[in-house]
Amino acid sequence: MKFIIFATLAVIVGAMARPQDTGGSLCSNGRSTANAQCCVWFDVLDNLQAGLYQGSRCGIDCNYNGYAESPVRKVIRIAFHDAIGISSSLTAAGQFGGGGADGSIISHSDVELTFAANGGLGATVDALRAVGLQHGVSFGDLIQFAAAVGESNCPGAPQLEFLAGRSNASQASPPGLVPGPADSVTTILSRMADGGLSADDTVDLLAAHSISSQENLNANIFRSPLDSTPQVLDSQFYIETSLKGTIQSGPNLGFAEVLSPIQGEFRMSADNNLARDPRTSCRWQEMATNNALVRTRHRAAMAKMAVLGFDLASLTDCSDVIPVPAALNALPSIPPGLTQGDLDNSCPTAPFPNLPVAPGPAITVAPAVTLIVQRVVAGLAEP
Ligand code: HEM
Ligand SMILES: *[C@@H]1O[C@H](CO)[C@@H](O)[C@H](O)[C@H]1NC(C)=O
Repeated sequence: MKFIIFATLAVIVGAMARPQDTGGSLCSNGRSTANAQCCVWFDVLDNLQAGLYQGSRCGIDCNYNGYAESPVRKVIRIAFHDAIGISSSLTAAGQFGGGGADGSIISHSDVELTFAANGGLGATVDALRAVGLQHGVSFGDLIQFAAAVGESNCPGAPQLEFLAGRSNASQASPPGLVPGPADSVTTILSRMADGGLSADDTVDLLAAHSISSQENLNANIFRSPLDSTPQVLDSQFYIETSLKGTIQSGPNLGFAEVLSPIQGEFRMSADNNLARDPRTSCRWQEMATNNALVRTRHRAAMAKMAVLGFDLASLTDCSDVIPVPAALNALPSIPPGLTQGDLDNSCPTAPFPNLPVAPGPAITVAPAVTLIVQRVVAGLAEP
């Protein structure tokens, strides 16, 4: 059943992502890359796609450790939590400020997996460690590579940049550097800035929440998605977090959970507040109406995040090993049953742009894979 749904999806959204053939140095299996040092990453690619990603999958249609799981999402989260482990204020105070995207979440998992923010990431950290050891690549490189490959399995995602050459040496990150879902906008933005990322970067990075779910904040709605299209990277997350919250998806509100606009959807307090704060709401609103803009901005922000703590001059561009994601076949829209008037107008300088309303009765989202099918059937095709 799961397989049938997945096969249908693959037909609807287009061909499965595949590696690019760009000319240059010839690697194993006849593939090529601009730089011979990048060949090893084709082997890592094959390993991840056939292994952890169970056939180049994106979402929760993976059977992982006996239950529905999304290793791609876990890995993207790990990439953020590893990279954000860097602090200019700690360094300025004469303390160890962390090494950024140095793989310390794997090398020092004994310390970092005890941080509350890293709850639920242990099995995936272990799986990544095994892949890194098997191929002799640094853990920092492996994490950012696996995140880029993972996103490439999600229709609508950009082909992320991947630079190789991070040192494998690291110390455990200082505690408390990963922003929390109940943190205020001020706390989140100052932590991100202290790590080297701006308010705009923060908004752009959060496109990752368009392919996300939660399990730790409200176990009663285990793996509830953060938008109605968790199988694709798109604008819907920005639209739906901007709609007024009216519905309690589960029997209770979980930790850092606020009301959402769609039954079954989980809205995180941090996302809710970032959508409405004058420091972030205008950019949030821009992202809400344009899938292509989401792609280009998210790509640039991910490139910045992936090299926190490293000197660009010491890294080699292996981006051509990253598969080209399938194109997205859907336009940004207000979910069925809601209207433009349900959007909070939070940007002080511009009204929320007009969006089409998807036809049909109000939808319910479940931790399942059928939603993109509904959207495509509804005729919301991207030109
Ligand atoms: C900046 C503030 C952020 C906060 C407060 C935050 C918080 C969270 C929380 C609490 C979850 C739910 C985890 C669970 O219950 O399993 C989550 C999920 C996720 N986050 Fe974030 N996040 C932030 C930014 C980011 C960034 C920058 C990325 C990546 C670029 C990211 C990627 C993800 C992904 C992929 C998931 C889905 C995990 C899954 O479905 O298993 N997040 N986030
Ligand atoms: C990276 O460091 C770990 C120890 O944390 C080690 O086991 C592994 O072999 C190292 N990998 C490389 C490529 O040096």
